Amino acid sequence: MHDPFSDALGATADRTFEGAYERSPLPDEGPVDTALLPMTARLGVGGRLSVGGVDLVDLADELGTPLFVYDEAHLRDRCRQAVQAWGDGVAYATKAFLCKAMASLAHDEGMWLDVSTAGELYVALAAGVPPARLVFHGNNKSDAELSRALEAGVGRLVIDSFDEIDRLCRLAGPAAGSASDHREPAVLVRVTPGVQAHTHEFVRTGQEDSKFGFGLSSGAAGEAVERLRSFPGVRVVGLHAHIGSQVFRVGSFAEEVEVLAKFFTPLDLPELCVGGGLGVPYVAGESAPTIAEWASTVSDSCRSVGIPASTRVTAEPGRAVVATAGLTLYRVGTVKELPGIRTYVAVDGGMSDNPRPVLYGSGYEAFLPRAADAPRPRAVRVVGKHCEAGDVVVADARVPEVLSVGDVLATPVTGAYGYSMASNYNKVPRPAVVFVADGRYRVVVRREDDDDLLRLDG
Ligand code: LLP
Repeated sequence: MHDPFSDALGATADRTFEGAYERSPLPDEGPVDTALLPMTARLGVGGRLSVGGVDLVDLADELGTPLFVYDEAHLRDRCRQAVQAWGDGVAYATKAFLCKAMASLAHDEGMWLDVSTAGELYVALAAGVPPARLVFHGNNKSDAELSRALEAGVGRLVIDSFDEIDRLCRLAGPAAGSASDHREPAVLVRVTPGVQAHTHEFVRTGQEDSKFGFGLSSGAAGEAVERLRSFPGVRVVGLHAHIGSQVFRVGSFAEEVEVLAKFFTPLDLPELCVGGGLGVPYVAGESAPTIAEWASTVSDSCRSVGIPASTRVTAEPGRAVVATAGLTLYRVGTVKELPGIRTYVAVDGGMSDNPRPVLYGSGYEAFLPRAADAPRPRAVRVVGKHCEAGDVVVADARVPEVLSVGDVLATPVTGAYGYSMASNYNKVPRPAVVFVADGRYRVVVRREDDDDLLRLDG
């Protein structure tokens, strides 16, 4: 049966051709692969699934749905892996998922935090993260954002354009007045290495044709470093590059280092940040390198191209820290069987809590937390409650035979770029977020209510 929607959407992670996600096959009929679940996920009596010692169906009954559930032990483990692999300076990319609890968890575990807007900066500071442990990004930082970053005294400022250099000279230079006394920000210059990571074109950033950073081959990067070095108000400490997101091949990062080295080594700078981008498996059959493998590939590559061992080589993982730690719980509201066509299972969320299937054609899986060990022979399409035919959560899902209206349905690996990209489309309130650990839960972001939907109305 030809299904144009599926052709566009059923895709997932490993990319073998440019600009499009490869279509993932329908998962097999077995139970959900435990590799897609948070690390403390356990099967209980009758196949009921708990995470952090908390039964997921009970949690949904108590707190309502949709609900983002994060395994705190898993989050901590990934932060520790990152610090262990990369050393001091590795930053958690907060765009993947940010709230005060997440910011302080990453900080407690020794990570720096990458923020890319005044909003992310505000939340990180509100969580008590010391400004010196923040890396401030952005391809179009406003005067107000730059001033806030400078006043806060962020640890690293990543410079992205000549306009920003002009702005910085104005705001941080001697003419900026007494408020600038304490400002001599440490800056990284963001460069575009011209490396094409094998990933979706919307999340690919390292190529020359990019809105981010300074081109290497055009000479723009060299000019940026020169201009910043001649300006007494800042300290140029290194280079930054980011080749893309959901990258499965560590070879792309080795290639990045190789390209950067030619430019970096003669500059004699102490730091090199290779950005984020390590991919994670979203559906069974995919596999991704570990954070440690990613770091050691980069480190080996640095050595082989002659980057001095004294260089602080860092990274900014987002997805690899939070994606698999999180899952979403929905309630099934309707099951619509269209004979000879397909079965639609509609849940109480959708593109407002997970726009990734619609935006990037990302694939997910689904399972029933009340029967997590059950085979999943039924092929269905999981859809949301929004007024759009494209509002798909899992284009090609397999679920247990017993699935029925009223069930709690879970989609694993929704911890990254789900809540952080959630919207109020159709005035659907954003879900709550809970952290679970040691048999207890804590609500770290409350569910929006009707009043929240009117909060900004004049
Ligand atoms: N550093 C920089 C400069 C970035 O732009 C990003 C992501 C990261 C680090 C973190 O990348 P990660 O390790 O999470 O791959 N919304 C898309 C992903 C966009 C990523 C944007 N930049 C998605 O849902 O797949």
